[in-house]
Amino acid sequence: MADASDAPKRVRTRHFRQAKEQGIRITGLTSYDANSASIFDEAGIDFLLVGDSAGQTVLGYDTTLPVTVDELIPLTRAVAHAAQRALVVADMPFGSYESGPDHALETAFRFMKETGAHAVKLEGGVRSAEQIRRIVSAGIPVMAHIGFTPQSEHGLGGHVIQGRGEQAERLLADAHAVEQAGAFAVVLEMVPSAVAERVTRELAIPTISVGAGPHCDGQLMVWTDWAGLTKGRVPKFVKQYADLRRILLDAARTYAEEVASGAYPGPEHQYED
Ligand code: KIV
Repeated sequence: MADASDAPKRVRTRHFRQAKEQGIRITGLTSYDANSASIFDEAGIDFLLVGDSAGQTVLGYDTTLPVTVDELIPLTRAVAHAAQRALVVADMPFGSYESGPDHALETAFRFMKETGAHAVKLEGGVRSAEQIRRIVSAGIPVMAHIGFTPQSEHGLGGHVIQGRGEQAERLLADAHAVEQAGAFAVVLEMVPSAVAERVTRELAIPTISVGAGPHCDGQLMVWTDWAGLTKGRVPKFVKQYADLRRILLDAARTYAEEVASGAYPGPEHQYED
């Protein structure tokens, strides 16, 4: 979307649909703070997801399951304040929408009123369709999320690719269910490329790939994986566009050495009388 000649001042949900119609790819990154949000926004990334992946990337949990609405609200507010152009999507954490449409709407209201986000995201296809319908009917755009849904990792038996073989029909049913419920876009996570291609062809709303191959209408990555900040293994679908962990490690080591040796602070870092 960034290279469209009539690039919007603020990306809106209607631009997602237009991008799909015009064959323009949509770009997304997660963001959890004002600095990264302002950089990605300046670079023309179309949407910023304040994902519950903050559980691992910011809060140091092992999974997304413990993340609460109260923890995500200040992060989402920071991103929404910093982003001038990108559409900001607030992720609804585990336990904040599953018990029914009323609960889901209350959570969506909190994100919209307290953060300045422009849309919410929740996980699940057929099982979350009523929640999506209720939130959308209140005027709040919803990004759906199907395929591998990290909040259900225990139910799914771990980080397992979804939609293979006979499961493909179930994935398609999920995709159609969220479209019919009114979602403006759908994230497909860890889905075989050929299945994602079929979903993308069958839906009018854009598909956003997180490890679902090149045929989707857009791509999304967890920024700390994408920038090489994450320690240890990252999923196969991640391409690392920078080596921030190495850069920060080198900088921190140099700083420690210079403080120890007295090289920092130098005269240029000191105030005169
Ligand atoms: O929380 C998150 O970052 C996500 C994306 C991986 C889709 O849900």
